[in-house]
Amino acid sequence: MTFDRTLKIAPSILAADFANFGAECAAVEAQGADWVHVDVMDGHFVPNITFGPATCAAIRPHIKGVMDVHLMIALVDPYIDAFAHAGADVITAHVEATPHIHRTLQAIRATGAKAGVALNPGTPAESVAHLLDLTDLICVMTVNPGFGGQKFIDMTNKIQTLRAMIGDRPIHIEIDGGVDPKTAPVVAQAGADVLVAGSAVFKGGSVDNPAPYGENIRNIRAAALGTYT
Ligand code: DX5
Ligand code: ZN
Repeated sequence: MTFDRTLKIAPSILAADFANFGAECAAVEAQGADWVHVDVMDGHFVPNITFGPATCAAIRPHIKGVMDVHLMIALVDPYIDAFAHAGADVITAHVEATPHIHRTLQAIRATGAKAGVALNPGTPAESVAHLLDLTDLICVMTVNPGFGGQKFIDMTNKIQTLRAMIGDRPIHIEIDGGVDPKTAPVVAQAGADVLVAGSAVFKGGSVDNPAPYGENIRNIRAAALGTYT
């Protein structure tokens, strides 16, 4: 997985048909998705449960490109190898989910996966200041994690601060929560390069009628590119 800062749209399969993940992943990729975002929830760190490494492994053969796994789980460390073996290209852990995020990021990189760190809306940018050399992606949550379809929380200042902190380092800024054609330009202008979108991508379509996925992705991308530098 090579680094570049071109704008990427990463549909979250949290908004897909759970009985049809393989076909849903193939459909969004065919319709223009850059990455596929996979939300893992444990009912403990967040108030919702989705699925674990076995499901990620089952999905993997249906994704040609990047499988971006967002772990909303605590504990994290005991499960890192399982998600790496499942074929995750990026594994993102929350800074709030462990007292030892530094160790967690080292452990993710040791598997060969890219290491991401996610920040809840209440967590400051400065919490990753000493992690930049261990991090390939910073995920700025623009909702409190746990559910799709929530209202966007403006994190413009945090994104700008992180963008300045990162400088020339090869670190993605990913935005997760409430991204749609209205909010995409706000976060792109602030410095984000990976936009996760669940409900705004999957609305109106299905595996039997995937064209709306393509239209939704194009609309989000066009809106974001209007402000992207
Ligand atoms: C929230 C998840 C998000 C969510 C985004 O806990 O991490 O990835 O699926 O969904 P939308 O785009 O519907 O806000
Ligand atoms: Zn997510």
